[in-house]
Amino acid sequence: MHGLFRYPAKYLPQIARALLEVSARPGDLVLDPFMGSATTLVEAADLDIRSVGLDLNPLAVLVARAKAARVSPAALIEAGSQAIVRARSGGDPALPEFRNRDYWFPKTSLVPLTRLRQALVSESDSDLRVVLLTVFLSNVKACSNASTYHYKLTRSRVPDPVTGPGVFELFEKRVRKAAARFHSDGGSASFFPGRRASAQAVFGDARALPFSDGTFDAVVTHPPYSISFDFVRSFKLYLWWLDAEGDTVALDRAMVGNQRRLVGKPPLSGLPNIDDRVVEIFGKSARDGLAVAHFFADMDRCFTECRRVLKPGGKLAFYVGDSQARWVLLSAPGNLAALAERAGFKLLARVPREVPSKASSSIRQIHVEEALVFDRTG
Ligand SMILES: C[S@@+](CC[C@H](N)C(=O)[O-])C[C@H]1O[C@@H](n2cnc3c(N)ncnc32)[C@H](O)[C@@H]1O
Repeated sequence: MHGLFRYPAKYLPQIARALLEVSARPGDLVLDPFMGSATTLVEAADLDIRSVGLDLNPLAVLVARAKAARVSPAALIEAGSQAIVRARSGGDPALPEFRNRDYWFPKTSLVPLTRLRQALVSESDSDLRVVLLTVFLSNVKACSNASTYHYKLTRSRVPDPVTGPGVFELFEKRVRKAAARFHSDGGSASFFPGRRASAQAVFGDARALPFSDGTFDAVVTHPPYSISFDFVRSFKLYLWWLDAEGDTVALDRAMVGNQRRLVGKPPLSGLPNIDDRVVEIFGKSARDGLAVAHFFADMDRCFTECRRVLKPGGKLAFYVGDSQARWVLLSAPGNLAALAERAGFKLLARVPREVPSKASSSIRQIHVEEALVFDRTG
């Protein structure tokens, strides 16, 4: 079920599971404020832990809702086939309008994709609809001129998109593959095998959590890394098909760890270990210095919010890598720990993990990642 969508910067399910096991018990309610493709939620459900995930990226929310959907494999295959029948018989559709549309999609794939999408949004069962739309989006890159090899949005040197009826055939194949991920359970089925703990995915900003004080037993998360992955640019191809193109500007501003940041002076944290690095990086590149400073300032707000929504004695557990900017190591695990302690947490454990060199090349210069666990003080 983790493989339903190739979401970048996922963490290993085993890491999510280990963090959950040390910070929560069956029946508890856990929050992941940087949910991504819901790795934490899927593992929590399997451990009988209730969970809520939050993300600013509409794609993440869709993928997570698909993983939390309750649908039977047979119903999914049937709904997919019906959608193809409707799409095949559709007339000339009004093509979606987005920037550089014809650069990214040949007309021969644009038309069947548009028809298929129209057929899917008219699916009346909301659980089936989110799963089918997720499968549809997982095919979009293969039907475009973009390279399917890279997470980043780049044009393929030799574009060879799936076109015409091939778009429907690919969709049908992937629906069957998605259906096979379901675990049958007495007639109904779910991506969450066996256990029935609820998982809910919501759209929102980790820096201003839409939850009341003292709601959660634990926060388990995998925050973005500073200057490592440009989520918004990489997701444009999908956001267009989600009708969320207008969101990309707002997303660009609100994404923690984003490179394309504001102007002005970098906000300082008051912690010399962070501020000295910010000043050094800012001296080499104002853009990168601002990005790093805003990353720490945003995480500072996030920790304050996490403490607010945690019950007294609740746990905070997160996993983060140590990225670099302009050859300056950010010491992110240690510096984030210092921010968390200032926000009202007590450090219980730090566990480093060496990233295999093959994996680290894809997330730029990250050689060590760490799991950190804290108690909420007071
Ligand atoms: C490292 S990824 C998490 C991946 C996730 N652990 C998984 O396995 O799929 C970080 C996530 O934080 C999200 N994000 C960035 N800024 C955010 C913000 N201000 N509020 C909520 N989510 C945000 C990104 O969209 C991205 O999905």
